[in-house]
Amino acid sequence: MKTVLTIFGATGNLMHKKLALALIQLLKQKQIDDSFQIICVSRRDYTTEMYFEHLKEFVKSDIDLDVLKNNLEYVKMDIMDLNDYTMLRKKIESKSSFPYQSLFYLAVAPEFFVDIASGISNAKLIEKGNSIGRIVFEKPFGVSFGSAKEINQKLSEYFEENQIFRIDHYLGKDMIQNILVMRFANRLLENNWSSDSISQVSIDVKETEGIGNRGEYYDSSGALKDMIQSHLLQMLALVAMEEPKSLSSDDIRKEKIKVLQNTIVKTQNAVFGQYEGYLFEQKIPQDSITETFVFLKAEVSTPRWKNVPFFLTTGKKLNEKKAEIIIDFKEHSSAKKLWPNNNHTSNQLVIGISEYEGIRFQMNVKKPGLNDTVSDALLDYCHSCQKIGNNPEAYEKLLKDFIVNNSTLFTSWKEIEASWNIIDHLKKDLSNPVIYKSISDFADIISKVKRGV
Ligand SMILES: NC(=O)c1ccc[n+]([C@@H]2O[C@H](COP(=O)([O-])OP(=O)(O)OC[C@H]3O[C@@H](n4cnc5c(N)ncnc54)[C@H](OP(=O)(O)O)[C@@H]3O)[C@@H](O)[C@H]2O)c1
Repeated sequence: MKTVLTIFGATGNLMHKKLALALIQLLKQKQIDDSFQIICVSRRDYTTEMYFEHLKEFVKSDIDLDVLKNNLEYVKMDIMDLNDYTMLRKKIESKSSFPYQSLFYLAVAPEFFVDIASGISNAKLIEKGNSIGRIVFEKPFGVSFGSAKEINQKLSEYFEENQIFRIDHYLGKDMIQNILVMRFANRLLENNWSSDSISQVSIDVKETEGIGNRGEYYDSSGALKDMIQSHLLQMLALVAMEEPKSLSSDDIRKEKIKVLQNTIVKTQNAVFGQYEGYLFEQKIPQDSITETFVFLKAEVSTPRWKNVPFFLTTGKKLNEKKAEIIIDFKEHSSAKKLWPNNNHTSNQLVIGISEYEGIRFQMNVKKPGLNDTVSDALLDYCHSCQKIGNNPEAYEKLLKDFIVNNSTLFTSWKEIEASWNIIDHLKKDLSNPVIYKSISDFADIISKVKRGV
């Protein structure tokens, strides 16, 4: 079916950094056909030619914007003005003859979500229940359970749940999608994927940069809401979920929801930090206690994960830029019995999400030579090295899925609800953050939380 995609917020950072490139790649690879029409919306008084000039200023110089020339038109509109939606409707109708699907991407601040949804619905750009009309909402979806519920209640007046796509771009990353394949397509792993064999799970998303020029947004959010509520809890859900009945989005979401509803973080198991110098960043109040670092010890109270702690760590201005999931296995009792005088490592599986994309498995082997000595060895699968040509970016995958109406990698309302419940409970008792220069400043306190003392 032909498609018209309208992007609100087309002069924003997300369009410059991610969406323009993703659309170019999809067109180049013929993942979307030449009849695909894109309408780019913002308030600026541009012609389409001027809009291309604007994009040129912001996108990387090696990106070939000409690929979009036959498919893209710029439209000036104010998203707060209801009359402009009637104009937009005429524009969309002029782009394609029926039947066509009418898709919307809201790359705008969350405070506009409800106004845009209402404008779209009033102008009958999307009919409730008719899935040829669908709409993407960028994160964050609310700032608390209460606000997320309020937004969702409004949206559900205009659209059915299956027309609403809440994006978490982490889910579009190839190695995140690899988690289910690794777990359920490998007997060796799935048979040992429980407290019988696993001692602990760590999920780390560390950044070296500070908040840059996002001060206003970041200070009202903090690491707990910006990272844990979405990306890290989604990663936890994929690692901890039971096998879904099928790979349909409903079946996968059902299992993820159960995990999130059974995830508990006690207040004493949370550590918060703020990097030194944060208060001197642009638009940060001098008395801000917003956290830029979080460490949590979470419990997943399902039979599979009895007594297995899940350690979640995220922060800015840390010593490395890295996102990974580390599964630590228990030591095998035979190893100590049979090779008592040797040092053995416990098996460890590392799923590298970024910057390294791959899987590393630490195991014990016999040291080459005449001695009967055990040493450790690292099996290393580099996922990104296997790709030929274009490495699909998360946004490319998510846009493609949105266009073909596959919602598996988008977050359902029930997942949002369960994650906000975890965060709100912690935010209520948030202690003042520790000022840090490096992650080693947390070594003692994290070690205490890990040991439960
Ligand atoms: N940037 C990222 O890398 C990133 C990553 C993940 C999620 N997100 C999410 O994506 C969303 C957009 O972020 P962003 O960084 O792209 O925002 P941004 O750079 O501030 O851009 C906001 C866009 O909204 C438009 N806009 C604002 N008020 C408008 C109005 N009344 N009528 C029409 N257009 C209006 C602006 O157009 P004008 O030119 O007319 O002002 C601009 O195009 C946010 O929800 C953010 O949390 C962003």
